[in-house]
Amino acid sequence: MSIPSRVHIIDVGPRDGLQNEKSPVPAEVKIGLVQRLQDAGLQEIEVTSFVSPKWVPQMADNVEVMAGIVRKAGVRYSVLTPNLQGYEAAVQTRPDEIVVFGSASEAFSRKNINCSIAESIERFAPVVQAALAAGIRVRGAMSCTVGCPYEGDIAPQQVAYLAGLMKGIGVQRVDVADTIGVGTPRKVQRAIEAALQHYGLDEVSGHFHDTYGQALSNTLAALELGVWNYQASVAGLGGCPYAKGATGNVATEDLVFMLHGMGIETGIDLDKLVDAGAYISGFLGRKPNSRTAVALLNKRA
Ligand code: HMG
Ligand code: MG
Repeated sequence: MSIPSRVHIIDVGPRDGLQNEKSPVPAEVKIGLVQRLQDAGLQEIEVTSFVSPKWVPQMADNVEVMAGIVRKAGVRYSVLTPNLQGYEAAVQTRPDEIVVFGSASEAFSRKNINCSIAESIERFAPVVQAALAAGIRVRGAMSCTVGCPYEGDIAPQQVAYLAGLMKGIGVQRVDVADTIGVGTPRKVQRAIEAALQHYGLDEVSGHFHDTYGQALSNTLAALELGVWNYQASVAGLGGCPYAKGATGNVATEDLVFMLHGMGIETGIDLDKLVDAGAYISGFLGRKPNSRTAVALLNKRA
């Protein structure tokens, strides 16, 4: 398998990145972040989630954020919808894609969405049906595909099982997520191969949290399998509220620097991306959690 010559990145910073922030980030700042990401050339942005505000207060302004973004032609805006209630609220805000999110681990499914894997699929099925009927694309995030904070190692068979269930209800593409960043390259390849039992190469993306500093290595391992869709979080923002200690996704800046260095096109302007990361990090009062961003900002200074 040859390494792809072009990679498509979904920036999940506004959603996966900010969902874990303790102090409220105003909607206008989130809207400003989305604007800067699209200015930097991101063609796909995960904007927010339609989950319970009691569970994830930071995403309670979902409607306001979706209403405030200035949509750019050619950019796809996605939102998370765990159930019909979330979908019905989300659809009013005209997302291009909705994301149902399940887990390869039973324990994490219960902690994150308060139901078993089987029950989650029952909840997702009508959401997927409604979205497809409305012409909205459907992605399925698969958490804990390598390791789980409650169950430890996750076998590739569990990933194949979940991917098969997602396929069965009509989910069009899936994310292989390493929620707590414990994956290492060969383990991540086994998880991806498990997803590939049910989905084509164009329908599988890598979603690697960088908790243990493995996300770029894992991306390279996924590239070796031909995977060309990845999620990343600007300034390395984030972590899942139900995966204690887990930090953000690989920083989009670090990912873009690596890909461009390998001659792989992304369509992203790294300088403008660094500006987007500096903007949100400035608001949060810290440095971007990206080695590339810090290096480039130091060079500018
Ligand atoms: P539940 O308590 O089982 O739901 O929560 P319920 O149907 O029993 O309803 C209970 C209450 O929640 C009711 O309100 C509902 O109205 C409300 P009350 O009558 O008590 O006032 N409710 C909702 N409110 C707003 N939007 C909704 C909604 N549904 C019910 N959609 C639920 C189930 C899934 C809603 C809950 O567990 C939840 O919100 N969980 C949050 C999950 C989450 O956002 N996790 C982080 C995102 S996933 C992630 O980060 C992983 C990912 O990045 C991949 C990776 O890295 O692994 C994607
Ligand atoms: Mg995540």
